[in-house]
This record gives sequence, C-alpha cells and structure tokens, in this order.
Amino acid sequence: MPPNDKQMKKGFVLLLLISFSLGLRSQSNPVFTVKPNEIKGTIQRTMWGIFFEDINLAADGGVYAELVKNRSFEFASPLMGWHELRKNGSGGNILVMNRQTSNQNNPRFIRATCTSNQGSFGICNEGFRGMGIKANHQYEFSVLAKSAKGTNVAISVELVNSKGEPIGSYSFTPTADDWKKYTGVITTTETDPKCSLSIWFTGKGSIDMDMISLFPKDTWKNRPGGMRSDLVQLLADLKPGFLRFPGGCIVEGRELATRYQWKTTVGDVDQRKVIVNRWNTEFRHRPTPDYYQSFGLGFFEYFQLAEDIGAEPLPILNCGMACQFNTAEVVPTSQLDPYIQDALDLIQFANGSTSTKWGQLRARMGHPAPFNLKMLGVGNEQWGPQYIERYIVFSRAIKAKYPNIKLVNSVGPDPEGERFNFLNDTLRKMKADFLDEHYYRSPEWFTQNAMRYDNYDRKGPKIFAGEYAAQSVQTVSPDNKNNWKCALSEAAFMTGLERNADVVNMASYAPLFTHVEGWQWTPNLIWFDNLNSYGTPDYYVQKLFSNNKGTDIIPITQNNKVIAGQDSIYASAVLDKRSNEIVLKIVNTDDSEQKMDIVIDGVSPSANSATVAVLKADALDDMNSLTEPVKIKPIDKQLPLTGKTISLSLAPYSVNVVRIKM
Ligand code: AHR
Repeated sequence: MPPNDKQMKKGFVLLLLISFSLGLRSQSNPVFTVKPNEIKGTIQRTMWGIFFEDINLAADGGVYAELVKNRSFEFASPLMGWHELRKNGSGGNILVMNRQTSNQNNPRFIRATCTSNQGSFGICNEGFRGMGIKANHQYEFSVLAKSAKGTNVAISVELVNSKGEPIGSYSFTPTADDWKKYTGVITTTETDPKCSLSIWFTGKGSIDMDMISLFPKDTWKNRPGGMRSDLVQLLADLKPGFLRFPGGCIVEGRELATRYQWKTTVGDVDQRKVIVNRWNTEFRHRPTPDYYQSFGLGFFEYFQLAEDIGAEPLPILNCGMACQFNTAEVVPTSQLDPYIQDALDLIQFANGSTSTKWGQLRARMGHPAPFNLKMLGVGNEQWGPQYIERYIVFSRAIKAKYPNIKLVNSVGPDPEGERFNFLNDTLRKMKADFLDEHYYRSPEWFTQNAMRYDNYDRKGPKIFAGEYAAQSVQTVSPDNKNNWKCALSEAAFMTGLERNADVVNMASYAPLFTHVEGWQWTPNLIWFDNLNSYGTPDYYVQKLFSNNKGTDIIPITQNNKVIAGQDSIYASAVLDKRSNEIVLKIVNTDDSEQKMDIVIDGVSPSANSATVAVLKADALDDMNSLTEPVKIKPIDKQLPLTGKTISLSLAPYSVNVVRIKM
C-alpha cells in the first residue's frame, strides 16, 4: 500500500532529523590536523630502549638460564641452596674447602667423601625457586671435578620432579686426579616448574667438585651457558634502540665494596667473582637472602645481547660513589684513578683492536669485531656536589682519550626539586651530553606532565628518560600493580616524549624483569616464573611506540595547539620515511568513546584505508598474568580514509596507533 500524505510528512521530518543530527555530529567532531611537510626534528634510532638491572632475579634465576643456584659455593653460607641425600644406609659427608691462595676469585669447592660402599650418598640443589624443566628437552650438566687417588666413586646425576621422581639422568665416573670439566646431557620425560637436581655418589673415596651447572640446551641462539630464549625474545620483539646495563643501583652497591665492577664479570665463567646482590637485603618487607650475582651474565654477554637485538649498548659505571640511599660512601677524588681506568679499559674492551689488552680478551671470548660502543654512563642515580666533583675528573679523562664517546649523567632520583635543579643547572652549564632523568610517579603525574619537554632548551644537553614507570600506589610499595591505568598514563606521557624527540633521544621503562616468586620491586615490564613469561600492559605500550618509532617528528594539533590532555586526549605524530607512512599515536584516557576527524594537510594518502592498532582494557585495574598473558594486547583493524580525512572513534581508555600510507 503506498504511503498517505500524513505518513509521507512524518517520514520526511524523520529524515530531516536524522540528517540534521548526523550533520551536527560530524560538525561537532574535533578536528586534528597533521602536517607531514613540517618536519620538526629527527627521531633517533635509540629513542625507545631497554633498562636492564639484576633486580627481582632478573639475571641469576631469570634471563641467565643457569638452573643451579650457588654452583660454586661462594654464597656467604657456602651450602645455601644445597642439602645432603642418603639412601640405603650410605655413609658420607660434605666438606667445604677453601683454596684462597691458589684461586682468589673462586676459592671454595666441596669435597664429597663416601665412607662406605653401602647405598649412595649425595647432594641436591633446589634451583631458583625450583628448576623449570620441559619434557623431551635436553639439559647440559657440567662440573669441575677431581678424584682423590684410590677413589672409585661413580656419579649419577638425576633431575627430579616435584613429586620426588626422576625424570632424566646422566652417569659418569671421574677418574682424573686434577681438576677436569665433565659434561653430559640429560633428556627429560616431564614438564615441571619445580624440579631439583640430585647428584648421587656410589662407591668409596672422595671427589672434589666445583661449578656444578645445568643449562637448557635451547637457550637464546642455542648458545651453551646462554640466556632464556623466551625472555630474550620478548626483548627482541620490542626492537629496542638501546640496552642500558647493568642498572640501576646495582652499579653503585650498598657500599663501595659491593659496587658493580665490570672486570670481574668477563673472562672464564669460573673466574668471575661472585658477590652478594644489593637487593638481597634492600627491603625488609621483601628479603631475598639467596640473591647473589654469579656474573655468568657479565659485560661481554650484555654487549652481545645488545648486538643480537639490534640495540646500541649503553653501559653505566660506578663513579666512585656508593648508593646515596644506603651508605653514601665516596672515594676521595685523589683516589679515583682505578675507577677511571675501568672506564677507559671498558671502551677498549668494547672498541679496541684485538692487539690491545682488553680487545684481545673480547676476541678470546668470541667477538673479535668491535662492539661499536658510542655512549657511557658515569654514575647511576647520584646527586649533590660530590657527584659533580667526581664527574669532572671522569669526563676530562674519558673525553681526552675518546672525544667521540657521549657521556650520560645523572640528575638524581627525582624529576624536580633541589637535587634535580642543582644537577640540571650545573650539568647544563658544563655542556653535558645527556641528562638521565628518572621518574617513578603516580599515573596522574604522567598525564599531567605530557608537556614536560615542550619548552626544554633545544640547544642544551639531550635527555635520556632513563627510568620511568607509573606507580599505582607509591614508589617502592609492594602493592604497586602493572595495571592498565598505569600503562595508559605512560602512553599519554610518551606522546610528549615523542613530540620532543629532538631533545629526548632515549627513553626506557624500569625495571625490566621480575620473577613472580623472587621480586623485591614492583611494577616491572616483564614477569616470569621458571617456565613461562608475559609482557605487562606497560610492555605492550612500549612495544607499540618502539615498533612504530618512525624517522621524523611532525605536528599534530587541534586549533594550532599540541594535543596533551584537552578532553583527555594525548597525541603525537611521526613520519616513517622508510615505509613512507604517517604514524599517529592517540591516547584516550577518558571513560567514554571519543570521536575526531584527522585531516592530513598538504600530502595525499595513497590508499583508501589506514591500519589502526588498538590497545585497550575493560577496566583500569585490568592486568595481564601468567594465566592470562595477553588479556591486554594490541588488536589491528582497518579504517576507511575519505580523501585526506580519517574519522576515528577512540574506545574509552585506549591507546591507538594509526598508520597511513602516503
Ligand atoms: O629500578 C629500580 C631502581 O630505581 C634502580 O635501581 C634505581 O636506579 C632507581 O632508584
């Protein structure tokens, strides 16, 4: 039946209303303008990087894949991590021996003596909160052993699951009466995150043992004695611009005696001097009495890791000052020579020819080619005139010999206040290369400071945002969470870093790694247990920015103003000259959907759609976890482009990365 007049009128009014409201809506969309022809600066290759520190079992018990804890018996309690085993009425004992005069770096070993031929006697290692073992995988066991004359003792090495059952073994009989390395492969039948390693002695006599070690064969790049591949893969996926190592406060030590000394971390692994980890006793609420540094992951391995993942190496050295939150000991400036020599020798280790002393060691360790070191940090989170006094001596010596090495300087632990102002003013007057700013602050601080660098001096030192992370409760609170609210606020702030990439040349979230059962500090970028690992929402924010770094900064504005919090929106834009794309990062920190039209000025997109990666969560306290490792992760979609305009609807609480082909 055809519509009558009344119905026609009604339909017409309805149509008018719909088109009116549609028109109104599109008129009311805020308009953001992107100007790809107005390049504001270059984005350094180093822009988004990694901060590594051996905190939270990041190295031993973490990325360093060694499964035996206290393998050389050098912990303060020499048998920590080990206990004796007996079966079938065996007799025997373990003696801790010390050969200080003949082996100063690794003086201790154990002597296992079987006093009867009955049964078996043994020792068992508990690993780092257990040992994570995978079924049908191979594990390489090794030991330095020496057998006393007249001894006839067979050794059986067993991997044991959490129920006490063997899941793989290897047997051998040491015969040499001088130190010899024995190795063997154990193939496993079960997966269990909480295994242990039993070493049984059968026979009569005594065996000396040191460096009892077990590594998975499938390490990163299958390097023997290497790193956990799942954890390194997470780092490689970030496509980081630099790798800062080895920290952090660990560089400083609680006292000077336990500062990080790179020379004790290179060369043969059994000659790397084990010391206590400063995080062992740092927090009374998170004591970790079994936390030591074996330095199996040492400076050579850090340089190699940086190279593997395409990152510039950025080592930080002690500048003659212990942690100012602890003993605050300083070396008299007249006695800084050994510290400075360490710095000069490190540059030779990284870059020197193989005919130099330290270049030769690098070659002997397997890397004749230089590592091409360009930057060096002097001191970690130091403050006060005592830092400047020491820094002056360091920089004079380093710049005299290596004028092209850029130095990274501390401006203290806070991004504002007296300590910061003093160092910031002084180091700027001294024309420092890089200022290393740290901010462990609330999510609100991050969103409120998205314009922090907009007015920084363009001709002064470059900025290294060396350590930052939003704290859901407060700094060093054990209740801090890696939740979506924190990650979102970091993303908002990072648009400000990117907009100012001409002055901010490097940035890294901190800390990096943490063992779910062995942490001292939270929040952290990547969490893991003995078998599995996951990236936090903060990790995916870092990944989105780094993987979409671009090459040049271009403006994105609303009414000619930078977009840094108006209506809870934060935005930055870059060109990627390699792929000929415009890349936008737009963050919506509001709890409602936000619409906008983005107009590309001066350049025509070459396609009729753009790709958008959206990172969002349903609630601000949402997190990833071992059971839901990718609950929050970026999802890609396509959006139509109409001429030079793209209309976006940003989901509540979302980070959006838009790539537009030109
Ligand atoms: O990232 C944890 C610690 O925070 C670092 O070791 C130190 O530099 C900062 O205080």
